Amino acid sequence: MIRITVDDERFEGRDGQTIAGVLIGAGRIAWRTAQTGERGVFCGIGVCHDCLVTVNGLSGVRACQRAAADGDVIEREVRA
Ligand code: FES
Repeated sequence: MIRITVDDERFEGRDGQTIAGVLIGAGRIAWRTAQTGERGVFCGIGVCHDCLVTVNGLSGVRACQRAAADGDVIEREVRA
C-alpha cells in the first residue's frame, strides 16, 4: 500500500498504480483547472497532457504516466 497527499488530502493506493489511478480509484475524475474547465485523464497514454500535476515540487508531471510513490506530495495545477 502507498499513501500520497493531494492538496493536503490523503489518498491510499496499491504499489504500481499511477497517480491518476489512485485518484480515479478514490472517485476523483478531475484535478487540474484549465481555461476550458476542470480536466483529468483524457487519453490515459501520455499524449494529451490533460492530467498534469505538480509532484514533490516538479510541475508538469503527467499523472497518467507517473507511478505513485509512498509519501508523494501532489498539488493541482491551474493553467489559464
Ligand atoms: S491523460 Fe493524456 S497525458 Fe495523461
